[in-house]
Amino acid sequence: MEGELIMEYSFPVTRTEHPKPKPNQENLVFGTVFTDHMFEMSYDADKGWYDGKIIPYGPIMLQPSSMVLHYGQEMFEGLKAYKTDDGRILLFRPEKNAERTNLTNERMCMPQIDPNLMIEAIKAVVRVDKDWIPDRKGNSLYIRPFIIATDPYLGVRPSKTFKLYIILSPVGNYYKGGLQPTKIFVEDEYVRAVAGGTGAAKVGGNYAASLKAQVKAAEKGYTQVLWLDGVERKYVEEIGTSNAFFKINGEVITSPLTGSILPGITRDSVIHLLKHWGMKITEKRITIQEVYEAHAEGKLEEVFATGTAAVISPVGELNWKNQIISINNNEIGVVSQRLYDTITGIQTGRLDDIFGWTVEL
Ligand SMILES: Cc1ncc(COP(=O)(O)O)c(C=O)c1O
Repeated sequence: MEGELIMEYSFPVTRTEHPKPKPNQENLVFGTVFTDHMFEMSYDADKGWYDGKIIPYGPIMLQPSSMVLHYGQEMFEGLKAYKTDDGRILLFRPEKNAERTNLTNERMCMPQIDPNLMIEAIKAVVRVDKDWIPDRKGNSLYIRPFIIATDPYLGVRPSKTFKLYIILSPVGNYYKGGLQPTKIFVEDEYVRAVAGGTGAAKVGGNYAASLKAQVKAAEKGYTQVLWLDGVERKYVEEIGTSNAFFKINGEVITSPLTGSILPGITRDSVIHLLKHWGMKITEKRITIQEVYEAHAEGKLEEVFATGTAAVISPVGELNWKNQIISINNNEIGVVSQRLYDTITGIQTGRLDDIFGWTVEL
């Protein structure tokens, strides 16, 4: 055991006695390899959050009656740490993940957490496993905080006890050999979320409910689904686990945060950048019909998805009710490429961080 004083928070560290070999950086598959350590912290109503510590990565003990296993009271986050060419370690907007954690927790009747505590916990565990951060261009360390309800109880009510974990996974570039346009299936049968539901929260249940459509799209040869609104199945909402942007006749359009959309941190960064570049960016609802009409008129210039995993993901093809359209000749759009280069440049310290988005460890 050794103590580490980290700002106002100090987390004891128990180091593993069995360090694992680091993976080959050339063929890292997302979410398959985990580092040597993890962060664990407990919560109960009397003590608040307590006993934060860093321990060897490994199985966790839970009562089979733990509420998370039955009613899914849980949440998760996702962000990345990057190693710069000169060896510094940068996090990208971690305060936004802490802020979103509290929005999710509020919706899920889970306790609030001091954003500083969460950020310091992330920093502390990344520091312990810093040698796991890949330094190959395009690679990074994916950080997955999550909170689960641990009351051993089968009644339906909010749990009174919780655990927060932070696990780390070295990940490769989402695209082998650079950006590539994807094929997207417009889902008009299953829905992801409705206003008043949990779509704006980052909770596992949303993803469990999305699997059916994802499997259906994959069977048809599509990378992901474009979700339509859950009420009328008309308005475009999100693409898989990303936010969706449409460039029509010079104007970039994305869905407003209606309550059924996850407030993506990449989405927010893209909106900032487009405004900064003087481009027309509008948060408004548009229908899939309008997207197809714009295409028919030759005005649909680009479609792209935004998220932590791939950053920017250009869309090359849409299939809505078997009407297949090709966007920008299935090539990467100028705006998609510029956003990708700029955001990844800031994340990895190659470009000036003019908005103060990165946090150095
Ligand atoms: C449903 C959904 N929408 C959007 C996003 C993009 O959010 P962010 O840019 O914060 O990764 C994600 C990924 O976290 C997601 O799961």
